[in-house]
Amino acid sequence: MTVELRDRTKVRLRPIVPEDEPLLHEAVAAMSERTVYFRFFSPIKRMSDALAHRLAVVDYNDRFALVATTHRPNGKERIVGVARYDRAPGTEAAEVAVAVIDEFQRRGLGGQLLAELARVGRAHGIMSFSLIVLPENREMLGLLRRMGWIHQAKLNGGVYEISFDLPDLA
Ligand SMILES: CC(C)(COP(=O)(O)OP(=O)(O)OC[C@H]1O[C@@H](n2cnc3c(N)ncnc32)[C@H](O)[C@@H]1OP(=O)(O)O)[C@@H](O)C(=O)NCCC(=O)NCCS
Repeated sequence: MTVELRDRTKVRLRPIVPEDEPLLHEAVAAMSERTVYFRFFSPIKRMSDALAHRLAVVDYNDRFALVATTHRPNGKERIVGVARYDRAPGTEAAEVAVAVIDEFQRRGLGGQLLAELARVGRAHGIMSFSLIVLPENREMLGLLRRMGWIHQAKLNGGVYEISFDLPDLA
């Protein structure tokens, strides 16, 4: 599907495919240290190939990732955002993570990715998402608040553990 961002840029949302592995490396390279740290909780410059492989290869049921893509002037596809969930085995709850490259932040993409991931999750029997957010991550806390999704936030060991029930399928 194609979505329009606040500045009218068009971005494609689609499920991740294994061939996206190199594009994931490029996306991390396009992120500031701050963005990488909030997503991975570690100041990595480059993901290990094993991590990139695990992130790119999902089963589209218990593990699902959506990528947001645009095209470079040379026509090559580029990943500008990713949202994913991992189901806790045998449950209706999943852990979620989202990241948008800095150049594309604050245009509504993070919210659109999460909203679409919630629809996909519900269609696969996921009823709640949880995630860990650093207290200084105003962007993510602001986004969750704006979406009305902060129902439970526990400060535990210096990080927020947030969980929320997914909205009904539209
Ligand atoms: C969190 C993140 C995904 C948001 O992506 P985004 O595309 O910028 O999100 P949106 O534009 O949909 O929403 C951003 C909202 O966050 C809030 N926000 C963004 N930047 C903010 C800032 N500097 N201060 C306060 N609030 C901020 C606002 O509520 C904003 O909504 P508004 O502009 O309508 O007021 C992005 O900042 C990111 O990739 N961060 C690093 C990774 C991360 O923190 N992931 C979460 C843990 S897994």
